[in-house]
Amino acid sequence: MFSVQEQIVRYLKQQRELYGDAVYIARQEHLRVVSTDMAQVNSDGWEETSTLDDLHQQIHECLNCPLGSTRTNFVFGSGNHNADLMVVGEAPGADEDLQGLPFVGRAGQLLTKILESIGLMRDDVYICNILKCRPPNNRKPLASETDECEPYLVKQIALVKPGFILALGLTSANTLLKNKESMTSLRGRIHDYHGIPTIVTYHPAALLRNPEWKKSTWEDVKYLRSLMTP
Ligand code: URA
Ligand code: URA
Repeated sequence: MFSVQEQIVRYLKQQRELYGDAVYIARQEHLRVVSTDMAQVNSDGWEETSTLDDLHQQIHECLNCPLGSTRTNFVFGSGNHNADLMVVGEAPGADEDLQGLPFVGRAGQLLTKILESIGLMRDDVYICNILKCRPPNNRKPLASETDECEPYLVKQIALVKPGFILALGLTSANTLLKNKESMTSLRGRIHDYHGIPTIVTYHPAALLRNPEWKKSTWEDVKYLRSLMTP
């Protein structure tokens, strides 16, 4: 058997054969560089924010669209600030609006189970939505609302720097990926969100109405898990 030190030396030699003298360490480090560039490119006159908490502070009183006046709470996001996986839903519902946290109602409980089925705890991932405020009667977000709110999500993604994104439902997928494709055409392949591999699956609220879609969702999340490092 090789000692740990010998194994490290062998590994480094192998890396040098593959990549030359440049040392590539963790993927998170690459993403930090990529995302910093992205933040600079996207800088549009906002105060620079360095953490999610700063961003939350800066935007939680937003009144840029009419939903600001009807919300109970601004629903920023929750979970691991350095998550490898970022889960993006549509918009807060009644429970989320009351608690100020994403995915805490019935759909959220199903999301928790779906994540656990692939060995992820809610606290391992970062969870948020396209819209931060609840649309009245849970109607679909309007394009005007999405346009106002999406820059907040872009900032969140740049701060979390996830290795992967899971888009839940068509609103999330079509908004992130800037297309109008159907769920059938979006599922089962890897999309590219500014360099971040993105997987699309059914929204858990849709699964509550259509339990026959659960099997496909299970396949989607297993596929996602197989892409992520263990
Ligand atoms: N549905 C969503 O899209 N997001 C939530 O936070 C809750 C329900
Ligand atoms: N149609 C929906 O409304 N939601 C989904 O998640 C998939 C199809």
